[in-house]
Amino acid sequence: TAAPTVDTLGRPLRDLRISVTDRCNFRCSYCMPKEVFHKDYPYLPHQDLLSFEEITRVARQFVALGVQKIRLTGGEPLLRKNLEALIEQLAAIPTPSGLPLDITLTTNGSVLAKKAASLQRAGLRRVTVSLDGLNDNVFQAMNDVAFPVRDVLLGIEAAQKAGLGPIKVNMVVKRGTNEQEILPMARHFKGTGVALRFIEYMDVGATNGWQMDQVVPSNEVLKRIQAEMPLIALESTQSGETAQRWGYTDSAGRHDTTAGEVGFISSVTQAFCGDCNRARLSTEGQLYLCLFASQGHDLRSLLRSGANDQQLQDAIARVWGARKDQYSAQRGAEPIGAGTATRRVEMSYIGG
Ligand code: GTP
Ligand code: 5AD
Ligand code: SF4
Ligand code: SF4
Repeated sequence: TAAPTVDTLGRPLRDLRISVTDRCNFRCSYCMPKEVFHKDYPYLPHQDLLSFEEITRVARQFVALGVQKIRLTGGEPLLRKNLEALIEQLAAIPTPSGLPLDITLTTNGSVLAKKAASLQRAGLRRVTVSLDGLNDNVFQAMNDVAFPVRDVLLGIEAAQKAGLGPIKVNMVVKRGTNEQEILPMARHFKGTGVALRFIEYMDVGATNGWQMDQVVPSNEVLKRIQAEMPLIALESTQSGETAQRWGYTDSAGRHDTTAGEVGFISSVTQAFCGDCNRARLSTEGQLYLCLFASQGHDLRSLLRSGANDQQLQDAIARVWGARKDQYSAQRGAEPIGAGTATRRVEMSYIGG
């Protein structure tokens, strides 16, 4: 088999995140604040989006170059019409190893109850659901569209029933906003087979007004949980993992696998750029090499100007081969580019 495609730091290309829409039905203050994403916001026109055929063709080249996991994101990916058809096409991509692609999706859960079964039938293997608290006042203030907790929980249940597991839940922790939800969330998901992950609030994009004092360091979250429910550090299972995993312990201090685990995604206090193997394809076909990049590489023009598969693959390999990005590892206490003209891409456009 061919040597893996690596960047200038020796990092292989393993994980492709595809944003299928820049729209969302939530207005989380840390992602799509209402003041910016109001009803006249200029979302991408339909002809600018990659079609399912174009996405699949690009994805096929990434898989040939070593990608093993594809994550569909947004915005809210389940708002893209007939997403099942895209999943079917992606699931049919042949892999060099012959092993099936790990196809997953990050969703706010709002329409998951309705779609879980059809997504699973289309070939989706698992889902990650975002949920920032169990208290409706807290959660509705964060999603800013009065969306109830209960409907997200029903979505998670439906996904479990449909066999879209193991399910992960992502909670962004923001100081002064939802810290009081850390323990209720941990208690709720302990023993359910769902892995709850706490995400440090990040200075991604340019519209959320991020400040360091709004970050709750993972160490602090860990201590709060440990005080009530002891945890033990688990080995990482995959290289390039975003989360540090901790398991609940039994009375002998060993990992109690029925109680399950939690994860910490600490990109602010403990950056994980060293083995970052993630590439991102924006809704309009720009290839981004880092969540914090200010510029992408235009694959859509190539696609639409008649490039063949080999040319497409060579272009992707060249871009990845020149990659140097390690934003989180290099950032200091101040977000790079804060207060300057540097325009960073929004997470709702590039995908989480
Ligand atoms: P699995 O563990 O395979 O399910 O995927 P994952 O850990 O990559 O999961 P997910 O996409 O849910 O990522 C969780 C969160 O981590 C994202 O929503 C981001 O907030 C953050 N994140 C993911 N990738 C990166 C990255 O490359 N850099 C930084 N700084 N943050 C990331
Ligand atoms: N910091 C950390 N996580 C974020 N997400 C969105 N914006 C941010 C941010 N500024 C998370 C969402 C979701 C995933 C797509 O990314 O909550 O779980
Ligand atoms: Fe939508 Fe997710 Fe962004 Fe919230 S974090 S606004 S649910 S894309
Ligand atoms: Fe990868 Fe950039 Fe995130 Fe670092 S900051 S882990 S390089 S996406």
